[in-house]
Amino acid sequence: MTHWGARGLPVPAERNENARPSWPSELDRLPLETTALGTRTAGAAEIVVRRADGLRGARLRLADDVETTTREDGGVHLQCPLEDPDLGLAVTVHLRTSTHHDVVAKWAELRNCGDQPVELLRGWGGAFNAPVGPGARVGVLSGAWGHEFTPAEIDLGVGTVSVGSRQGITSHDFSPVVTLSSRAEPTNTYAVALAWSGSWRLAVDAPPFREHVRVAGGTDDESGIHRLEAGESMVTPAVLGLWCAGTDADDVAAAWHTYQRVIGRGTGPEHRPIVYNSWYATRFHVQVDHQLRLAREAARLGAEAFVVDDGWFRGRTSDRAGLGDWEPDPTKFPSGLEALVDGVRELGMTFGIWIEPEAVSPDSELYRRHPDWIHRAAGRAAITRRNQYTLDLGIPDVEQWVTEMLRRLLTDYDIGFLKWDMNRLIADGGQTQPGGDDWSWRHTQAYYRVLDMLRTEFPEVTVEACSGGGGRYDNAVLARSDLVWTSDETGPRDRLSIQHGFLSGYPAWTMSSWVTDEPDVRDTEPASLEFRFVVAMAGALGIGADLLAWDTDERERASAMVAIYRQIRSVVHTGRVRRHGTPAEEAYAIQYTTRDSVVVLAWRRPGAALRLRLADLDDLDENARYRAPDGGNVSAHDLAETGYPIGWTWGDCDIVVFHRHDRREQ
Ligand code: DGJ
Repeated sequence: MTHWGARGLPVPAERNENARPSWPSELDRLPLETTALGTRTAGAAEIVVRRADGLRGARLRLADDVETTTREDGGVHLQCPLEDPDLGLAVTVHLRTSTHHDVVAKWAELRNCGDQPVELLRGWGGAFNAPVGPGARVGVLSGAWGHEFTPAEIDLGVGTVSVGSRQGITSHDFSPVVTLSSRAEPTNTYAVALAWSGSWRLAVDAPPFREHVRVAGGTDDESGIHRLEAGESMVTPAVLGLWCAGTDADDVAAAWHTYQRVIGRGTGPEHRPIVYNSWYATRFHVQVDHQLRLAREAARLGAEAFVVDDGWFRGRTSDRAGLGDWEPDPTKFPSGLEALVDGVRELGMTFGIWIEPEAVSPDSELYRRHPDWIHRAAGRAAITRRNQYTLDLGIPDVEQWVTEMLRRLLTDYDIGFLKWDMNRLIADGGQTQPGGDDWSWRHTQAYYRVLDMLRTEFPEVTVEACSGGGGRYDNAVLARSDLVWTSDETGPRDRLSIQHGFLSGYPAWTMSSWVTDEPDVRDTEPASLEFRFVVAMAGALGIGADLLAWDTDERERASAMVAIYRQIRSVVHTGRVRRHGTPAEEAYAIQYTTRDSVVVLAWRRPGAALRLRLADLDDLDENARYRAPDGGNVSAHDLAETGYPIGWTWGDCDIVVFHRHDRREQ
């Protein structure tokens, strides 16, 4: 790459004269796209390789001409063939751009052309060199279960900082996305993400005195080794990079959302129904009559899909049993699951179901039949978490079994919504078998294949990704699912913070959010029913409360909120997101802007006032006018400069909609 960002901005080689007298080679100073330990002698490298006879490192050189093809959308696909003939390693570096978004994707294909096995101690796809140094301000999304997507900033003066997961899933702890800007004068922002859902690592390397800070990533190189037999090849996960003028986090977010609009399958309501999910109302005590009563109330409120969560299948009376035995429990559904499916369909809703395909309970028929199908270090006692094991999807028989089980479920029943959960990390992957070090890689690849099968064979089915909330979400999952259950924390103020962080790297149309009952376990601060609805409306609205416990007043207010949501849904899901302040402030708002409308969702603590100066109104001249909710006719200029006083319709929250109209209508 000759520049990254605005034309003429960075130069390819280090200019910093302080770096010159140092010992590293010229290659160490160049902002190489992808390189190997052994090619770069001192700097960070993406490929660390060891041949069976102990030869370590690779000296990569250009093997052929660089091939550049223009893609259908006008973007470019560049392929750069490198090789180390002595070692027998061929590396093709791929770079892809698009005219529909600003993201550059980089990945590598590594092939063992020698006659001995080669171990990839690190097999990453590429690096981005951000000219922000020396050092960098590094922005990450960190967290924990129930606290996902919490923004944090690391002031990196020198050295390497890395974030990642060794858990076989993306993890609640870090999301694979970082931002970089200068510590001295932050004028631009560089952002890098990794499209990978197994164990991973993103490393930010800031060498002393250097202008270029290098960001690279791929599968976790601490907990896994990839072995290439003679003739074998592998394609690394893609690292994604973008540049943004300025330091506005919403501009970076908007650039990611534009990219995600292209890699996902649309933002429309067909795969973002208003869901009623019965988990919080019933937990494991699923009973067909009770579910049907909940479904009737949900339909009255305006829900479009009814999802029966955990607890519907054979033997599932608690979290100690049943996972893996995916047939309706005959005591809960004496006349079969059809009774619920048909009842829900007759109410005009899509029927949805929860499943955890990778999980198996020790107390299950599946485990009794196949104790050798789980992740475990052979010879050691298997580890349970939440009383369950994880199936090793990387075993071909297991992948086939899961694929067929899902095919059967979706064929036997009229299911239009599938919530795919995963309730534990995999701490004990890697059976003692050839290639066992690669367990996370193989598991994740199989997970993708099964998701791809769902999309190809059951395109009408909406898939909601979940892992105890947001434990497995990233750009690779996003490309293969429609929604994500963002967090198990549904207390509205905590949830607002989680959603605030989520939106900085991921889009509103995938952000599943439910209204649940008060008080929540952790966030016990009271909030009106409307407050909770407006929080959930910031993404894809759902309801997870015990509707049978709601009184008439609550039901009426809830259906009024659902009706409002239907009117604003398309703007929330397609509009440009602008966060005004943070949820920690006395008043906070999110603005969604399309060409024709602006929707503002606002929340406050008692007594706070907010005059909101709208942003992103492209056309600030006199012709651009908006109809305000009170019927007033406001110019874009006034909305941006003078601002609009939020009226707080429901006391602690508000929804304000502005419709753009042209002069002919005035
Ligand atoms: C964790 C999920 O995040 C919840 O929504 C629920 O589906 C439970 N698992 C069920 O076990």
